[in-house]
Amino acid sequence: MNVGIDGFSFYTPKYFLPLQTLALARQVDPQKYLRGLGQYRMAVLPPDEDVVTMGANAAVNLLNKHSLDDVDLLLFATESAIDQSKAGGLFIHGLLKLSERCRVVELKQACYSGVFGLQLAVSFIKSKMAKKVLLITSDNARYGLATAGESSQGAAAVALLITENPRITALEEQAAFCSFDTMDFFKPNYMSEAIVDGHYSCTVYLNFLKKTWQIYQDETGLGLNDFSAFCFHIPVPRLVEKAYQQLDKHSALFHQEALLYYSRHIGNSYTASFFLGLASLLEQSSCDFTGQRLGCYSYGSGSSSEFFSMIVQPNYKKHLNTDYHMHLLENRIELDIKRYEEFYDFNLLDHVNGCSIPCTVHSGYYRLVKISNHQRIYALHTQQKDLERQVVDEKFYIF
Ligand code: COA
Repeated sequence: MNVGIDGFSFYTPKYFLPLQTLALARQVDPQKYLRGLGQYRMAVLPPDEDVVTMGANAAVNLLNKHSLDDVDLLLFATESAIDQSKAGGLFIHGLLKLSERCRVVELKQACYSGVFGLQLAVSFIKSKMAKKVLLITSDNARYGLATAGESSQGAAAVALLITENPRITALEEQAAFCSFDTMDFFKPNYMSEAIVDGHYSCTVYLNFLKKTWQIYQDETGLGLNDFSAFCFHIPVPRLVEKAYQQLDKHSALFHQEALLYYSRHIGNSYTASFFLGLASLLEQSSCDFTGQRLGCYSYGSGSSSEFFSMIVQPNYKKHLNTDYHMHLLENRIELDIKRYEEFYDFNLLDHVNGCSIPCTVHSGYYRLVKISNHQRIYALHTQQKDLERQVVDEKFYIF
């Protein structure tokens, strides 16, 4: 049975900070970020968006090409959970008005849980436990102001439909995986930022790549020449350049620049970052990958990793959302350092009393309106006119 990705769409907030601006504010040579880390811009989440709104905003665009009425499993992968009990996916299930006959679960294992969700979806479909799976990966990468990891922040969500006879990529059965208990990156429940030993984390990422790639080759008999391109989890573009070099010196042959394009402009998005790379590779490369095999590497700190492969399906280009994604990226609002820090420092705890959350004109289709009785209230974004009326009595950020 051929099972895999039938459609996908991503969403990233409409605000960004140029890494040049960050470098000047932190008194760092801009070339360190731009060339040393290969990062040009990072997406910044406004106060009235979170992983739920980003996920719903990514999924809503799928409706242009797909029906979601028969989705019977919704998997929500994140490491920026908004609740320790209720799955964030249930809010999305409500916003998208999905069928009641749908399982909804949240998955966690750092950045790896998105790819695990993909494997889970495929096996549910193959075993007839599900017919159509909506996988949503959504994260807001936060390391703290003026920390070493600050330049690796970002935010995005990718929504994917997994079905039989997929029109974009089909997963192959072979996969190599490994896990080991490490403390390279973690986020205790009482913290809103991750604690990361960045250099150690990059070393573990590369060591796990070496290990899983070796196991994959031993078990499948496949080698570099059997792949047309590679798709990696992308915490920092420079780390992925090193991953290419570790596999093979001639990274240009494997479409490195196409893979990294979106991430260089968005930053890290944890669970979503692997799929952002896949979108970038398929949408930004001028090559036709039809029938070709993609090598895929996912890593989640803590740590688990997996190497697997997908075959690109005929006519896949017709089912991509390239124009929409480029429109999103090209129409973002540039923040200065003051506004970025204001957005960053916004604290939801100051708003649990039911008063409205400051509204940003350029947030997505869905936004977080308020927290009432500790319940998050989401709604469709009101029109510009309504916002202008409301600005009289409440504090709004308007650009
Ligand atoms: N011009 C050009 N390049 C420069 C430079 C300059 N002025 N200054 C430094 N560089 C280069 C360095 O040589 C280095 O390149 P190399 O890796 O090829 O040697 C690179 O820029 C980074 O410099 P470094 O001093 O190592 O940066 P850092 O100590 O600030 O840490 C990270 C970089 C990636 C470790 C840090 O940003 C981080 O922790 N990010 C989060 C990582 C993460 O998310 N991990 C979890 C998931 S795997």
